[in-house]
Amino acid sequence: MPDGENNVRRSTTEDDITAAVLARFEATPDLRLKQIMLALIKHMHAFVKDVELTEAEWFQAIEILTEAGKMCSDKRQEFILFSDTLGVSMVVDLIGHRKPEGATESTVFGPFHRLGSADLPPGGNIAHRDTAGIPTLVSGRVLDLGGKPIAGALLDVWQTQSNGLYDSQDSNPNELHMRGKFHTDGEGRYLIRTVRPVNYPIPSDGPVGAMLKATGRHPMRPAHIHFVVMADGYEPVTTHIFDRSDPYLESDAVFAVKDSLICDFARHETPPPEATKLGIAGPVLTAEFDFALKPAGAATQVDVMDAQRRLAALGARAS
Ligand code: BEZ
Ligand code: FE
Repeated sequence: MPDGENNVRRSTTEDDITAAVLARFEATPDLRLKQIMLALIKHMHAFVKDVELTEAEWFQAIEILTEAGKMCSDKRQEFILFSDTLGVSMVVDLIGHRKPEGATESTVFGPFHRLGSADLPPGGNIAHRDTAGIPTLVSGRVLDLGGKPIAGALLDVWQTQSNGLYDSQDSNPNELHMRGKFHTDGEGRYLIRTVRPVNYPIPSDGPVGAMLKATGRHPMRPAHIHFVVMADGYEPVTTHIFDRSDPYLESDAVFAVKDSLICDFARHETPPPEATKLGIAGPVLTAEFDFALKPAGAATQVDVMDAQRRLAALGARAS
């Protein structure tokens, strides 16, 4: 029944409000934007109806988002943390990086990558200021999907100090530490000196921490080392390696663990020859991990410079 000027119905019901809102987006010229907006509205309306969201709860949600916005700076990205802890980052990762069998799987980039880390030689120490951690050597090869070594591949590496803090969270936040760039040799080999990675809590002094607490979740991430591995003609992979002995592998706060990324950190009371060569005298851990890169397809053709520009954009946004 027409009930206004030009026969336009202005009263809406719970049943027809969604269709009325969707109709308002029909003329969106960008078809991808239109698809996203229509699906977003459908899912959000369905969610509100499903839980019968009250006005008080709706207002609380607005307050939480406002607080998240106020916490964001060039050093802190609370919205990425929300995305990570709600599993959204991993869903985006999973659908965006479907890999052929044998290719190293990707996982979250996280907010702690920084630009400008030093180029280090094989065996270079990223933990030169960390005297408390157990010396650790991480080695392996970068290969193509046929198992052929890739020479000159770049590995951009970062991890926390043995106190569980990233350099940017510690007392000298402007100094780079626990980061480095390594290149593979002619046989595709790399060798990184560091200290044993530890488990640590994600930043939990904001609304994300409050959400974790209110839902009975902990903020811990299992011990890991971050890598971006790239080589000309291959798709770069953003990933971690995880310590198999870590108790938080089953309950990572950001859902980033994949079985294929778990590796053994073996303890040696007597340093093996490669550790002695680097001047390590006491107990040492060794971990071995081979990365396998997928060739860049026509649609995803990237060279190393492109990948670095992509990293720079992400770093500027999130670190
Ligand atoms: C990290 O591993 O650095 C990280 C990843 C996601 C959220 C917070 C930290
Ligand atoms: Fe991390």
